[in-house]
Amino acid sequence: MKKLRIGLIGTGFMARAHSNAYKRIGDFFPELEYRPVLQAVCSRSPEKVKAFAKQWEYMAHETNWQAMVNREDIDAIDICAPNDTHAEIAIAAANAGKMVLCEKPLARTVAEAMPMVEAVENNGVKNTVWYNYRRVPAVTLAKQVIDSGKLGQIFHYRANFLQDWTINPNLPQGGEALWRLDVKAAGSGVTGDLLAHCIDTAMWLNGGIVDVSAVTETFIKERIHQETGKMEPVGIDDACIFHCHFENGSLGLFEATRYARGQKALKTFEINGEHASIRWDLHDQNRLGYFDHGDDSVVRGWRNIHVSDSDQPYIDHWWIPGVCIGYEHTFVHHAADFLKSLETGEPCSPTFQEAMETQKVCEAVLESAKTRSWQDTNVSWI
Ligand SMILES: NC(=O)c1ccc[n+]([C@@H]2O[C@H](COP(=O)([O-])OP(=O)(O)OC[C@H]3O[C@@H](n4cnc5c(N)ncnc54)[C@H](O)[C@@H]3O)[C@@H](O)[C@H]2O)c1
Repeated sequence: MKKLRIGLIGTGFMARAHSNAYKRIGDFFPELEYRPVLQAVCSRSPEKVKAFAKQWEYMAHETNWQAMVNREDIDAIDICAPNDTHAEIAIAAANAGKMVLCEKPLARTVAEAMPMVEAVENNGVKNTVWYNYRRVPAVTLAKQVIDSGKLGQIFHYRANFLQDWTINPNLPQGGEALWRLDVKAAGSGVTGDLLAHCIDTAMWLNGGIVDVSAVTETFIKERIHQETGKMEPVGIDDACIFHCHFENGSLGLFEATRYARGQKALKTFEINGEHASIRWDLHDQNRLGYFDHGDDSVVRGWRNIHVSDSDQPYIDHWWIPGVCIGYEHTFVHHAADFLKSLETGEPCSPTFQEAMETQKVCEAVLESAKTRSWQDTNVSWI
């Protein structure tokens, strides 16, 4: 059994999701040659990192990411810290010869992402970005159905990611808990945080996005910054809507917001083709909606496929047919695919290069909204 010694950076939401994934793999993907080892975890607070290491059974802990990156006993750095840290850590890790698994979005801007791609490629280190929704079994099945040609020509791609957690005008911005509202730390608002996921899934399923036309809105213009204690302008987009052309000639319509009262994480997509349509919804993530115009007309209608059988993607690694799996399994699948890629020598998609293409679309969206004009994305999607 070969070991992949993980150096995890961060102790928050994603650090827990990834740690859980590493711990589950050996039991549920026993065929893999590599096993993750929880070697060390890093976060700035000595108390928090120590407690996290104890709870999740990491062998060591650090309070300085540079020290972590330079540790001899680490094979792969996993970045689960806010967006403004990704570039510096990833480049240093790649230059130290470490593999890099980075949370999304790859960076705050295309300019920041570019040297990250160069660093992993020049150093020849394995890399991936955690756009985990690709690995929901129903979404992977959607990809298989589309690739089989069952939908025929695609006309429409429609996606949403809706939340409601920033409506309160008294919510501050910045600091440990609310870095997503601080443009310096996050880079953007819903575009980089939520739409980046929708764009990655969309290009994976339906090919490259050629150009975009967007509107964004910042509903609350000023919030107290937790680090300065002062009222400061809000620099992020609270909501974003864009439409676009895909390379295959289909039209796309995307919406993300943190102001959809009642919606907590409604991530959806619907694809309409010549012969069939597909739809999916994170709130009911084990189901794939499928409409086939070729069905006998008297029984034709939307099928509600429960993706839980052993011949459907990833399911044979879990329970008996018909039993659900959840959000955390998407990270187990991604980590397992990363370990598999070490065996095969194939890239683990999405790589930094692919995540860079998503970054280009995000940037074109923000630029379009700012200039009130159509923007080419210059994406080259494989
Ligand atoms: N794939 C997904 O679905 C998904 C979901 C949520 C977040 N994310 C991404 O994951 C990343 C982390 O988000 P989160 O929700 O886990 O955030 P979080 O606020 O829960 O955790 C961030 C962690 O990073 C640590 N940190 C901050 N600066 C640091 C530094 N300089 N050195 C070391 N540690 C540092 C913090 O102490 C904290 O433990 C972000 O890039 C975010 O966009 C991805």
